Amino acid sequence: MTKKVEELIKEMTVEEKAEICSGATWWKTAAIERLEIPSIMTSDGPHGLRKQDEEADHLGINESIKAICFPTASATACSWDRDLLNKMGEALGEECQTEDVNILLGPGVNIKRSPLCGRNFEYFSEDPLLASELATSYVKGVQSMGVGTSLKHFAANNQEHRRLTVDAQIDERSFREIYLSAFEKVVKEAQPWTVMCAYNRINGTHASEHKRLLTDILKEEWKHEGFVVSDWGAVNYRDKGVEAGLELEMPSSHGDGKKAIVDAVKDGSLSEESLNRAAKRILKIVLKAAEKDRDDIEYDKDEHHKLAREIAAESIVLLKNEDSVLPLNETENIGVVGAFAKKPRFQGGGSSHINPYQVDKAYDEINKYSDCDIPYAAGYSLKSDEKDQKLIDEAKELAENVDKLVVFAGLPDRYESEGYDRETLSMPPNQNSLIKELAAVNENIVVVLSNGSPITMPWLQDVKGVVEGYLIGQAGGGAAADILFGHVNPSGKLAETFPQNLSDNPSYLFFPGERDRVEYREGIFVGYRYYDSKKIEPLFPFGYGLSYTDFEYSDLRFDEENITDKENLKVTVKVKNSGKISGKEVVQLYVSDPESEVIKPKKELKDFAKVELEPGQEKIVEFELDKRAFAYYNTEIDDWYVESGDYEILIGASSRDIRLKDKVKVESTQKLPLEYTINTNIGDIMADPEKEKYFNELLEEYLKGSDFMERMENRSDEMLEAMLKYMPLRGLAMFSEGAITRQEIEEMADKLNKKFAV
Ligand code: BGC
Repeated sequence: MTKKVEELIKEMTVEEKAEICSGATWWKTAAIERLEIPSIMTSDGPHGLRKQDEEADHLGINESIKAICFPTASATACSWDRDLLNKMGEALGEECQTEDVNILLGPGVNIKRSPLCGRNFEYFSEDPLLASELATSYVKGVQSMGVGTSLKHFAANNQEHRRLTVDAQIDERSFREIYLSAFEKVVKEAQPWTVMCAYNRINGTHASEHKRLLTDILKEEWKHEGFVVSDWGAVNYRDKGVEAGLELEMPSSHGDGKKAIVDAVKDGSLSEESLNRAAKRILKIVLKAAEKDRDDIEYDKDEHHKLAREIAAESIVLLKNEDSVLPLNETENIGVVGAFAKKPRFQGGGSSHINPYQVDKAYDEINKYSDCDIPYAAGYSLKSDEKDQKLIDEAKELAENVDKLVVFAGLPDRYESEGYDRETLSMPPNQNSLIKELAAVNENIVVVLSNGSPITMPWLQDVKGVVEGYLIGQAGGGAAADILFGHVNPSGKLAETFPQNLSDNPSYLFFPGERDRVEYREGIFVGYRYYDSKKIEPLFPFGYGLSYTDFEYSDLRFDEENITDKENLKVTVKVKNSGKISGKEVVQLYVSDPESEVIKPKKELKDFAKVELEPGQEKIVEFELDKRAFAYYNTEIDDWYVESGDYEILIGASSRDIRLKDKVKVESTQKLPLEYTINTNIGDIMADPEKEKYFNELLEEYLKGSDFMERMENRSDEMLEAMLKYMPLRGLAMFSEGAITRQEIEEMADKLNKKFAV
């Protein structure tokens, strides 16, 4: 194929090359008939297919074909199940093949910096490792079907507010460790056919013309082989984009983009070589897509609906289950309240909006499991936030006559969408009041939530059960019933922290920024990294979720006690289902560096595994950690760096429920640059015994014949040490009262450099 690409490039005119770098329509790339270069079709993404035939738009306004609406990423992330995401990817790939779509526009791996971001429902997590692991599986799944993906939105698109113009100002370490890390693994391991650049600017430069991001990091460092596509309308100056590494402009700019490229090549401001590079990358994928196009695939909608239900059930998180109010049984006298039970909210708004093939309502599905006829009351209106006392009173009357009450609540459609952020974590006041009033007449309330991102729960203490469904897809009603009745044992765990108050969130003071600028001043302290380090009690912590069974953890073992940063560490732990029913547990591995010279979060997630266990069964769970598990991004060397020392391996059932821990020693094989100057702190020299010894020899040499040492002996060692610790070498002149001259200090620095500089 490479040969063919090379041949084609030679035959193409500048105009033709500029043409294939510019979208032909809203969804399609340009074909060059003369050379038999086909057009390929893209479609949103990520949790279903939004293929639009006519009247295209990127805000989910016009209808698309009917397709399966799977749970959104905020939900699927809670499954912590790589295989499941892979299966979902395969199913989406099949749907794309059936519908002649070559590239599915997803997944989105932007970090949930603030719980207010309107598009958080489309993103996986506040943690880059979890986001990238799940996205890697998803991409592999879709692409195994011969369909490409578009990893988006590259990068730092963490808010919707002013998303086309805002400048995300991020320091390099946080950018690497948090925001880029979520993309890095997916690119390196799954090679998404395309990466979609974000709308926003990053440290002053538009993502669509950010050479460092699109070329130096993505293509050169991470070795991305596919092409970069602009988010729809993200192009600022087209020619600058090509130079920076943005290959395809989408959608069609009706000739503007093409003209800008051709003019720039003609006036020499863009080299033809750069255009060739861009065109080659696109051609490679276009030819690959054409080659993989299949018409032997016709997906089974009912099977995919079943899969959507399975994924939803695996993703639901049981947040509270006091007195084992759940699971329900068939003969219990239960009632259902909440408009969402009959009019489910199962997806978010905007470009990911799917036209679902079939929608299951929780009320109907609950009825299928129960032997009784289940009474229902709406309790609130979805059209307004105003409390409707008549609706509340009807619901209260129902609540008084049942033993257990399931209340469906959450955020209405208008609360969360692409294009704008939320302003509060609160649920609509009419729903909060309803739950409070119901709790006064029924003490067995279970709240089932539909929301794309965290909410506050002022009624938490008044209810016995809380089931977090997120936006759970078209089959979510059935999945909720599966969990409520215990046909599926809940195994989801939160992929983000639920704070008690919005103001607890680390980005709170700086989100969404000032006019067109947002500073990420919390740095690496995003999500649990912040709450843990600041010792702030969340409403529900990262990684949290209950089961109907119990798990015991034991026998944490490492294959080595000491490793270098070039070696991997194998970690094993035994997990046992000590309860009475089978279930799945998400085992989480965090690494902590208790003593570090740099500022680090208290702990960070470095691996996880989901295991299924029958009652009484135990399994050994294995992890393998490489250098990155212990490294931080060091901006002095522009690379990942491991400090030598002891690290703690923590095994937890959540970020706040660490069951086992042990230490391992890791030795660095890298040396940080080191140069001695007259401003080097004496304490830094003394910290290393070898350097301390040499420094003392130097002192003796230069102080020979002076009475300085004698005078020093009258002072306590401790005092002397403390005084010298933060004194730069040049301070010795004054400190020794002239016994060591400035020139001698310069000599000392030179000597130290000769011996120790790196
Ligand atoms: C969104 C992308 C989407 C594209 C096409 C944009 O507004 O940000 O995520 O893929 O539209 O619909």
